[in-house]
Amino acid sequence: MSSKRVLITGVAGFIGSNLLDFLMEETDWDIVGVDDLSTGNRSNIESHSDSNRFTFHEMSLFDIKSLKPYDVVFHLAALPRIQPSFELVNEHVKANLLGSTHLVEIMIRENHFPRIVNSSSSAIYGTPENIPTPETERVDCLSPYAFQKYETEKYFDLLATRFPLDFVHLRYFNPYGPRSFNPANSFNAYSSVVGIFLNCWEKGKTLQITGDGTQQRDFIHVRDLARANYMAAIHPKKLNTAFNIGNSSTMSILDLAKLISDDYTFIPKREGEADITYSDVTKAKELLGWEPKHDVASYIQSVKS
Ligand SMILES: NC(=O)c1ccc[n+]([C@@H]2O[C@H](COP(=O)([O-])OP(=O)(O)OC[C@H]3O[C@@H](n4cnc5c(N)ncnc54)[C@H](O)[C@@H]3O)[C@@H](O)[C@H]2O)c1
Repeated sequence: MSSKRVLITGVAGFIGSNLLDFLMEETDWDIVGVDDLSTGNRSNIESHSDSNRFTFHEMSLFDIKSLKPYDVVFHLAALPRIQPSFELVNEHVKANLLGSTHLVEIMIRENHFPRIVNSSSSAIYGTPENIPTPETERVDCLSPYAFQKYETEKYFDLLATRFPLDFVHLRYFNPYGPRSFNPANSFNAYSSVVGIFLNCWEKGKTLQITGDGTQQRDFIHVRDLARANYMAAIHPKKLNTAFNIGNSSTMSILDLAKLISDDYTFIPKREGEADITYSDVTKAKELLGWEPKHDVASYIQSVKS
C-alpha cells in the first residue's frame, strides 16, 4: 500500500475524529485535518496532537486555498442535523452544500483532482419504498439537510461530465459509536439516538422516545464507516458513484431504548424523519470489498458493562 497525503474536513467531529483514529492505526499516511470547531471538539483529536503524521488547522474549509498537496480528501465537514436545517436554512446551505462546491471549485481551478470521499446520507431516501433499500431507490428529501446532501452529490455528478473529478459518495445510515454525543454542541438533541440514549442512561435520566417508537433504524458503527472511507480511498479505479454504508439490518427505537434502560417515556413525533432505514449494501460489498463488522447490541453491552 503506497503512502498517501490526505485531508480530512470536519476532523474534530464525531465521524471525522473516528476516521482519524482509524487512519492513524491502520495506515502510515500523512494526515492534515481542518475543522472550525463550530460543533466539533478539540478533545476528540487530542490523542494525536503529538504525532508527526497529523497536523490540525483550526479553520473554516472556506479558507482552504489549495488541494494540491493531497491525494485524497475525506469530506465530512457539515452541519448534519435534520431539525435545525428547517429553521437555520442559509447556515445549513452554506455548511452542507457550498462547503462541498468550494472544494470542487479549487480542484477545477488547480486542475488537480484528488479522490474525494464525500460523506452523504441515507436521509436522501426519505421513507423508502424498497426495504432493504438499494442505491437505485427514488430520492425523497424530507428535510433541507437531506436535500443539501443530495444536491452535493448531484453537483459532483454533473461537474464530472466536464472535469475529471474522482469521487465516491458514501451514504451513511444511522451511525453510532464513541464521541457521537457532544454535550457542548447546542444541536446535540439531534445527534445520533444511540449516543443520546446512552448519555441519558449514564446521567440517570429518562430516555425520551419520539413518536410511538416503532420507527426503525439501520445502526452502523462509526468504525465500519471509517473503514468504508478507507476502502473508498484505496480503490484502484475511479468510481464516481454512490454507496450505501449501513449494517443491512434494522431495529425499532423502542427496542433500542429497551436495550439501554427500562426508564423511558414518549414525546411527539418529529416531522421530516423517515419511518424506516434499512440498507442494502450489496454494491459496497461487491465493488469496494467492504462489509459491516459490528452490531449495536454488542456495543451497548460493552458501554454498559
Ligand atoms: N452523524 C450522522 O447521523 C450522519 C448520518 C449521515 C451522514 N452524516 C454525514 O457525516 C459527516 C460527519 O458527520 P458527524 O456526525 O461527524 O458530524 P459532526 O457535527 O460531529 O462533525 C462535523 C464537523 O464539521 C465541522 N465543520 C462544520 N462546518 C465547517 C466548516 N465550514 N469548516 C470546517 N469545519 C466545519 C464541525 O465543527 C464538526 O467538527 C457529515 O457530512 C454528515 O452530513 C452524518
